[in-house]
Amino acid sequence: MSNDRTLKIVLVASLLCIVCSVLVSTAAVVLRPLQDINSQLDMRRNILMAAGLYDAETGGDVKEIFKSIETQVVELETGEIASDIDPNTFDPRQAAKDPKLGEAIPSEEDLAQIKRRARFQKIYLHKGSSGAVDTVVLPINGLGLWSTLYGFIALEPDLETVKGLVYYDHKETPGLGGEVDNPKWRGQWPGKVLFDESGEYDFKVHKGPSPIDGPHDADGVSGATITLRGVDNMLRYWMGDLGYGPTLERLKKQIDG
Ligand SMILES: Cc1cc2nc3c(=O)[nH]c(=O)nc-3n(C[C@H](O)[C@H](O)[C@H](O)COP(=O)(O)O)c2cc1C
Repeated sequence: MSNDRTLKIVLVASLLCIVCSVLVSTAAVVLRPLQDINSQLDMRRNILMAAGLYDAETGGDVKEIFKSIETQVVELETGEIASDIDPNTFDPRQAAKDPKLGEAIPSEEDLAQIKRRARFQKIYLHKGSSGAVDTVVLPINGLGLWSTLYGFIALEPDLETVKGLVYYDHKETPGLGGEVDNPKWRGQWPGKVLFDESGEYDFKVHKGPSPIDGPHDADGVSGATITLRGVDNMLRYWMGDLGYGPTLERLKKQIDG
């Protein structure tokens, strides 16, 4: 058949399309388990970074270090452990969309502006050599300017002093809202105190640099007021009674014995 025949052109083009789509789909299916493993590893790396157990510069064996972490699935409303949910397979982001596992947040309560959340969350406990809990890592999320930011906040065993704050997923502008990833901005968090002496939430992320160099105040980022207001709001939400309040109360009893 002559190369100029329309039929031949259509046949060759169609064949090429079929071969390419088979190749792409096969690659997607074959590489899926590898992608899942990498995304789990990345999540674990961020949990360890928040807890101060992994340094991005010096690195380390994430799989090995993560063995020291106990994962609990907790029911947010009661703070109790949901022992019937497998922490290895439970995905709170998927669960938020599920009619049974997720719930809509009434707009007057939705300080973090996330609209829905899972009724259960995965939290992470690290125990020191004495066997006592020395770090609790809690997932947080909330709306910034362009996107929902997902991160982890790690707390000391007093459950009010911050060990670290890390965001692992957002679409804020690099150099503006994206500065939440800057190690310098992240470096201000260890030692910050989220509650006052009476146990009330008492913390502010300021617009730009904080006027007070104190444990209850954090610097914002100039030119990224909206993203940083999102950070302030999501901390207020998740650390409050509607967020991890009941979980923190239950953990306090567990840690204090
Ligand atoms: C291209 C572009 C990207 C921006 N990205 C962000 C951002 O990621 N986070 C943010 O809070 N503001 C961002 N802003 C700025 C906001 O539109 C808004 O002006 C700013 O949050 C106000 O903060 P300021 O009072 O500190 O200037 C961006 C602006 C432009 C033009």
